[in-house]
Amino acid sequence: MNKEEDNRIVSSLEKKDDKSFDIGLRPKKLSDYIGQEKIKENLKIFMEAARKRNEPIEHVLLYGPPGLGKTTLAHIIANEMNVNIKITSGPAIEKAGDLAAILTNLQEGDVLFIDEIHRLNKNIEEILYPAMEDYALDIIIGKGPSARTLRLELPKFTVIGATTKVGAISHPLRDRFGNIYRLNFYKNEDIAKIIKRNAKILNVEAEEEALNEISYRARKTPRIANRLLKRVRDFAEVKSNGIITKKISQDSLNALEIDELGLDEIDRRILKTIIDKFNGGPIGLSTLAAITFEETETIEEIYEPYLMQLGFLHRTPRGRIVTPEAYRHLNLEPPSQQNNLL
Ligand SMILES: Nc1ncnc2c1ncn2[C@@H]1O[C@H](COP(=O)(O)OP(=O)(O)O)[C@@H](O)[C@H]1O
Ligand SMILES: [Mg+2]
Repeated sequence: MNKEEDNRIVSSLEKKDDKSFDIGLRPKKLSDYIGQEKIKENLKIFMEAARKRNEPIEHVLLYGPPGLGKTTLAHIIANEMNVNIKITSGPAIEKAGDLAAILTNLQEGDVLFIDEIHRLNKNIEEILYPAMEDYALDIIIGKGPSARTLRLELPKFTVIGATTKVGAISHPLRDRFGNIYRLNFYKNEDIAKIIKRNAKILNVEAEEEALNEISYRARKTPRIANRLLKRVRDFAEVKSNGIITKKISQDSLNALEIDELGLDEIDRRILKTIIDKFNGGPIGLSTLAAITFEETETIEEIYEPYLMQLGFLHRTPRGRIVTPEAYRHLNLEPPSQQNNLL
């Protein structure tokens, strides 16, 4: 993504600093994975069933906006099933040989985690179909008229795919997943629980009200919650006695220009642009991208999901519309004739 997204504190994308901070915080068991109750219940049942049959679990597809816990869940599944996890991603598998090498190195029951699976090449996907369906790898030996196919048997394994763009996955690939789960934005209480658990692991004292204060601004996203916790902890250590109080969290998050709903300068710019220049919309995605200097993909995958979750933005066939709620949040008067567009 672009430079700006890289520096953005409330970005849902993973950054370099997140990784080291995250090592001890990432839950390893299903019981430590907070929220997403429906998914957990389903997973429990089908993992249990697979265990009873002594078989690897069916292929799993996880989708949803960045930072909601797809990678974490893939690791948890492998851990709970007591199997190895091999990690790769759509863009990392460039040639047929790359995938063949991965597949032939799998052991019975292993999980193959393919992140950003929507970015797999078409020709790679075609190798994956028989691998997922029949645990078989077809290799072409030789060239021209003397070429022949050799079918290699693979151990039974499980693909866990993750994507932020489920619509970009081809139908044949999607059909090969027995379990498809959509991760949702978290409830504020769940975000507060995550922050509480992590503050404990980090050995920092945090007031209950401070946990809430941080959770409101974490955009219902665990990755952002962890990042805010880190910022607030640093602030508390430097400006005070290390205890995270309500005041400390407010002061530090205000200093970072993150408002009470977790909106930052870019979100406000997007909303304001539609309001100021287009009277609240509708406005096409490419126009919005051009006038906010963002990429269309970034707008669609990063900014819009949360604004829509808040009910501040609607996607309509005629374009994007800013809602009266968004006007009010920005302390602006909503136009009266816009309501009938919604
Ligand atoms: N349900 C959860 N409970 C506790 N922490 C979570 C949960 N989901 C995600 N996290 C935290 O948020 C971080 C980002 O999650 P991740 O799995 O990398 O998201 P994604 O792969 O969907 O982008 C994780 O490293 C973990 O620390
Ligand atoms: Mg991930």
